[in-house]
Amino acid sequence: MRFINFGLVALSSLFAVSSAAPTAAVPELPAVPELPAVKDINVKQPLVEVEALGRRTDDVVCSKIQSTLVEVKKHTTIINSTMSSVHGVTEKAEKLKIITLVKSEVTIIVQLLTTLVGDITVLLTDITTITGSVKDEIVSVVVELLMEILLTLNSVLSTLKITIFELLGPIVFALLAVIINLLAILNVVIVDLLKIVFGLLGGVAGILTNVLAGVGSLVSGLLTGLVGGALGLVGGIVGCIL
Ligand SMILES: *[C@@H]1O[C@H](CO)[C@@H](O)[C@H](O)[C@H]1NC(C)=O
Repeated sequence: MRFINFGLVALSSLFAVSSAAPTAAVPELPAVPELPAVKDINVKQPLVEVEALGRRTDDVVCSKIQSTLVEVKKHTTIINSTMSSVHGVTEKAEKLKIITLVKSEVTIIVQLLTTLVGDITVLLTDITTITGSVKDEIVSVVVELLMEILLTLNSVLSTLKITIFELLGPIVFALLAVIINLLAILNVVIVDLLKIVFGLLGGVAGILTNVLAGVGSLVSGLLTGLVGGALGLVGGIVGCIL
């Protein structure tokens, strides 16, 4: 496990470089030169730190993931309600309209996950390990988050009878990359997180295969790389794509 963690750390730092632009929004505690200046600080900025003061950092990490799940569900709801109006064979124009909508919703989901990864990265600078009930809660909410995204995309694919590539185009790589990034960062502080999450997702392996069909060997290489340890390859591929 140790070398996998090492690889993931390297992978995370690679992501940290490649996603520098989106994570730039992560609040940085401004240097406070004089006490009287405190009231001038934008209250939005030190949000993460203020929360962390009053609560345990691992709880804050957990609630950030939970609130991201709530936000993600708003967008999967939009996708689902669009799909519920689709009956039988869809005309080409109609299909394209749905694809455009799903693409833009998934793009928002990718942005939400990117923000989450940025926030968690900041928070995790002061913890080395998360255990106990908070660990269990984080694992379960991460699995729920992944299932929500996978199952929603899967239903779109099977309704429209298209592949993930036809649906999302290159966005699929941005989505996979941010998911891998999230898992990689959490795996540093939660022992065996990847093993547990992939174990739990194993129950929906059929769905995963369906979702990923069409991206083919590239993505299966990404996934086996992630689980098996060929992380240099994963980092290389994802680094080029982003
Ligand atoms: C959207 O649909 C998928 C697939 O049916 C389901 O798993 C998911 O929970 C739904 N999401 C919401 C927010 O209703």
